[in-house]
Amino acid sequence: MSAQAAVIIGASGGIGRALVDAVQDGCVHAVSRSAAPDALASHVQWHVCADDAVQRAETVSRIGRMLKESDAELRRVIVCSGTLHGEHYRPERALRELDAGTMQTVFHVNAMVPMLWLAALEPLMRRSPGCVAAFLSARVGSIADNRLGGWYSYRGSKSALNMMLKSAAIELARRAPAIKLVAFHPGTTDTPLSEPFQARVPEEKLFTPAYVADRLLTIMESVNADGTLSYLDWAGERIDW
Ligand SMILES: NC(=O)c1ccc[n+]([C@@H]2O[C@H](COP(=O)([O-])OP(=O)(O)OC[C@H]3O[C@@H](n4cnc5c(N)ncnc54)[C@H](OP(=O)(O)O)[C@@H]3O)[C@@H](O)[C@H]2O)c1
Repeated sequence: MSAQAAVIIGASGGIGRALVDAVQDGCVHAVSRSAAPDALASHVQWHVCADDAVQRAETVSRIGRMLKESDAELRRVIVCSGTLHGEHYRPERALRELDAGTMQTVFHVNAMVPMLWLAALEPLMRRSPGCVAAFLSARVGSIADNRLGGWYSYRGSKSALNMMLKSAAIELARRAPAIKLVAFHPGTTDTPLSEPFQARVPEEKLFTPAYVADRLLTIMESVNADGTLSYLDWAGERIDW
């Protein structure tokens, strides 16, 4: 039987790093723009990759070669890339705060980067029947759930991600029906991304990255390749689009 492999994109983020630590079986290919941390388990291979098309293609080829050499099947892909605030931007509370540069950055990281990774990894995923690919989305990307407004770029970019993943699920149902796609809402998780917005979150509703990693891996074990995109929260509950 072939060994199992996982690819985790955005491995130095709060949730990404917790996932790298949580996957204990098979080998883990962790991909990040940052250098490898000091303490890494021996089954983890760290790939430094800038947010750039050439480096992305090179990284995917290198992972492909390593999977072949170790006779490993790519069973899990998890894309953790995302941004909510930066040095010069924060979630917008009103239309007057909209800024083209911020919108471009947020849409790029939250919607384009994950889709470009899906496109790059799809040939490897297609070779491994039963591969499940999960993308860190967010409940605030749900149009049905939007009761508070605001957060224009973050909400819009996560909705855009969900829509593009839906198109990908339809395409893959025809060409690679054994691949399953999941858009995942982790719940509010204690990471640098949520840090400025945690003050009003009750303690029991602020999850640790380790808890969320465990929930996502459990959910990925339970889903079947049914040709659809599942939009699920940390409890495994469906989220309305
Ligand atoms: N924390 C929460 O409460 C929460 C709630 C709902 C949804 N989410 C989603 O969960 C995901 C992970 O977030 P987190 O909480 O772990 O946040 P985080 O600690 O800030 O990690 C952010 C991640 O995004 C990647 N990233 C940032 N800027 C990038 C860029 N310009 N190009 C490519 N990659 C970039 C980083 O990858 P590198 O390893 O390359 O640095 C890192 O993995 C995000 O999609 C976020 O929207 C989080």
